[in-house]
Amino acid sequence: MAKLSIKDLDLKDKTVFIRTDFNVPLNDSNQITSDKRIRASLPTIQYAIEHCAAVIVASHLGRPKGKPTPNLTLAPVAARLSELLGKAVPLAPDCTGLEVARVKPRPGEVLLLENLRFHPEEEANDPDFSKQLASLADIYINDAFGAAHRAHASTVGMISYVPLAAAGLLMDRELEWLGRVTRNPDRPCVALLGGAKVSDKIGVIQNLLTVVDKLLVGGAMAYTFLRAKNEPTGRSLIEEDKIDLARKILASAGAKLVLPSDHIVASELKPGASSEAVTRIGPDRIAVDIGPQTIEQYAQIIRGAKTVIWNGPMGVFEMPPFDKGTVELAKAVAESGAISVIGGGDSEKAIKAAGVSDKITHVSTGGGASLEFLSGLELPGVAALTDKTANSA
Ligand code: 3PG
Repeated sequence: MAKLSIKDLDLKDKTVFIRTDFNVPLNDSNQITSDKRIRASLPTIQYAIEHCAAVIVASHLGRPKGKPTPNLTLAPVAARLSELLGKAVPLAPDCTGLEVARVKPRPGEVLLLENLRFHPEEEANDPDFSKQLASLADIYINDAFGAAHRAHASTVGMISYVPLAAAGLLMDRELEWLGRVTRNPDRPCVALLGGAKVSDKIGVIQNLLTVVDKLLVGGAMAYTFLRAKNEPTGRSLIEEDKIDLARKILASAGAKLVLPSDHIVASELKPGASSEAVTRIGPDRIAVDIGPQTIEQYAQIIRGAKTVIWNGPMGVFEMPPFDKGTVELAKAVAESGAISVIGGGDSEKAIKAAGVSDKITHVSTGGGASLEFLSGLELPGVAALTDKTANSA
């Protein structure tokens, strides 16, 4: 069922609590190395400001294990958010309690709460903590798609104690595109799945096989499948305990699941290692990327697609030149003109390296959340939001 959106609500003079996923990467000096997640929720925050709401923004950062942890403070996020919004964004000393009540924003103002995970009650989805968070707000907005697979106090618990709980603009966009490509895709619909482990993607593979017309497999997980077909895989990374499962998946998928027909192999996994393209992997070789024949075969299938779903690299992407297969397929996705939805950090880096970011329909901000969505699982943070038809706002 469709969920209520921030656009459906009258925000004027209301205090709006926006749960964002500002779990951004930081370097050793506590500087933000990518503000992508902050930028992704800016439209929601700006929308609330423009509609005269008093805005309280909340997020987790890292995994502080329920304790205040100085290097996981949201202070750098408050500073960056303030720069991007062009207005002051004070950081509350905590996320609940009297001190927060004292610094509550007025309409048009924004307050950022301190890291929700400094309290163990957040991840425990504690009812009292949920009530305290809810007491800050008239309206709850979830824009944290990246944390929607977590049933925590700020993503699920507090919703029982607020009158209305709606999706933010980023959440709307994530659900729209991920929903469209998995429920009602334009055809042919092609999935490109890579990454190291079959075990990380079993749910995704099984669910996508019920949706797509072709599932192209690359990355190290392809070698567990090739081993299941009794093909030589040399010293490539294999999950021995998943070979039986891979065999079963291959049997039920038939021609829908496509595996690499040639490979780039190296004698060792290190930058600058000499490599060559082969169709048969020698006993002392490690496969590090898909080969030229596979790139061409996969690119051709992708160019003919109307929908492409992509998660995971085709080779050891972080070690050029073994990023070639991934980057070449990023170009093919762009050339296809298909609706393209991408998840996973390496696929995103590949579209940047190929210079085609602007040709991709939607790059998900969720890692674990997008994998759960692609597995067909209901995300608790989405399920808890108010249904559209139930709203009378
Ligand atoms: C993410 O980065 O995937 C989300 O912010 C969720 O973080 P978590 O895996 O620590 O719950």
